[in-house]
Amino acid sequence: MINTSHSKNGASLMTKTISITSGKGGVGKTTTVSNLAYQLSQEGSRVLVLDGDLGMANIDIMFGSRAQHSIHDVLSGKKMLQEVIHPLRPNIDLIPGGSGVYGLHQMSIQQRYSLLQQVSDLDTAYDYMLIDTAPGIDENVLHLNSAAQQIVILVTPDPSSLTDAYALIKVLNQKRGETKFSIVSNQVGSETEGLRLYKRLCDVADQFLCVSLDYMGDIRADLNLRQATRSQQLVSEVAPSSASAEAFRGLAEKISHLDEIQEAKGAIQFFWEHVSGVA
Ligand SMILES: Nc1ncnc2c1ncn2[C@@H]1O[C@H](COP(=O)(O)OP(=O)(O)OP(=O)(O)O)[C@@H](O)[C@H]1O
Ligand SMILES: [Mg+2]
Repeated sequence: MINTSHSKNGASLMTKTISITSGKGGVGKTTTVSNLAYQLSQEGSRVLVLDGDLGMANIDIMFGSRAQHSIHDVLSGKKMLQEVIHPLRPNIDLIPGGSGVYGLHQMSIQQRYSLLQQVSDLDTAYDYMLIDTAPGIDENVLHLNSAAQQIVILVTPDPSSLTDAYALIKVLNQKRGETKFSIVSNQVGSETEGLRLYKRLCDVADQFLCVSLDYMGDIRADLNLRQATRSQQLVSEVAPSSASAEAFRGLAEKISHLDEIQEAKGAIQFFWEHVSGVA
């Protein structure tokens, strides 16, 4: 079964599913997913990345490669799931998204069962599945987020990023019953600025919603990161001692320590059942 795997210390673990999302576009989701996947793999974890962004399925590009197929080929019956999985680095695999992910909740019963069967049949097990979503409150974004165990929302100092993050939290809470969110402040100038963004979001959320937001930390605005993206490289690989690479390392460590916390939702099997409408 895919939902049990063995961590670096040999313990049996569920595959933890984490979505990285935002209300506003261009805040750093794809960058964060890619670098977190890399940092987690460096710690010895096995990571599966799901590219869930319709317009900009570009995780592969962040790793300087190009996937040939996508989950769309699986849904149309042309490929098996195992055949579209694209290796990015040792211990990092990608399920390329494209438009396929957006049809997930509209699959026929036959497609659902076939996909779920293939998910259980994957002989490689993963410690984490990281999901890169499109921005906004589109039904598909809500779907992917509510299927994940942990929802990480990125915000930046751009004022509209906070209002859009609030809108996403509100709709996930009211339409999907989500109550727990993790916040990361990206492209900030200081620790204080990151914390300030988090507190502002908490203030509004506390006033109008019954949700809990925990702060995972910040990623500084970093020229190294911008340059790495431009040359289709990962900052964590090419500039491992840069401020942003260190931040991604710290976030990855936090994620692995959170593993000990009992999760209310199920893991990878739950994700796929939920996304395909079986659950
Ligand atoms: N901490 C940072 N410092 C400097 N530049 C950053 C930082 N984080 C992200 N960027 C830059 O911001 C741009 C957008 O990043 P990215 O593509 O990861 O965002 P996204 O949220 O996935 O966007 P979309 O919503 O379009 O999918 C990229 O050029 C990236 O290099
Ligand atoms: Mg993106």
